[in-house]
Amino acid sequence: MLNIIICGAPGCGKGTQSDLIVEKYKLKHLSTGDLLRAEIANRSELGVEAESYISKGNLVPDKMIFDILSKAIEEQTKNNKGIILDGFPRNVEQAQALETLMTKINKETSLLIDLKVDNDELINRLIKRGETSGRSDDNLQTIKKRLEVYECKTAPVSDFYKNKNKYAAINGMGTIEEIFGRISTAIDTTTKI
Ligand code: AP5
Ligand code: MG
Repeated sequence: MLNIIICGAPGCGKGTQSDLIVEKYKLKHLSTGDLLRAEIANRSELGVEAESYISKGNLVPDKMIFDILSKAIEEQTKNNKGIILDGFPRNVEQAQALETLMTKINKETSLLIDLKVDNDELINRLIKRGETSGRSDDNLQTIKKRLEVYECKTAPVSDFYKNKNKYAAINGMGTIEEIFGRISTAIDTTTKI
């Protein structure tokens, strides 16, 4: 059973590559960003609170993330269906909590895929998407803040999984197909072990 984490800076292609991974490996896509944006669109209490963090480029509090995610993970993994986690874990505390949950439900994280993209390219991609996305965080000021938060809070999650030998750095520059080829090789290598 494959339980993959896709990680990397804002705009690195987590969502884009998740769609392709889901199709090839028949996994369930769980994106905390998408779940939060659905709450925002519904104007739920959680959504309104989350938006105040997201629009400034900050992380939303861990508890809110667990409230929306832990049930979904348990539900999806129940029937031995693998998952791809996109945008989670976002800090070391979330990684520790994820591993505690996985142990509790007798499952295992297979691999963290870390997409590496140059900062200039990240900014270009997000500014371009901002022309049509309607996302409150796709503007230059918030993008810069998101990149800072990524470096300070999220990048250390890589070391957490490196130490568990469950880590693959992937060059995230190039065409979508080229990058997907690299990811598939990393997944196939892991599952052969
Ligand atoms: P989240 O939704 O996770 O956003 P993000 O990490 O900032 O990343 P994006 O979704 O913007 O980019 P992506 O890596 O998915 O790239 P994409 O494929 O879209 O989080 C948003 C906010 O929610 C956070 O800032 C935080 O506030 C909150 N949040 C979420 N999870 C949280 C958590 N666990 N804890 C606390 N807070 C949390 O691609 C980007 C663009 O580039 C697209 O337009 C795409 O078409 C294009 N593109 C993709 N690949 C290529 C390519 N190879 N070449 C050219 N263009 C490309
Ligand atoms: Mg995304």
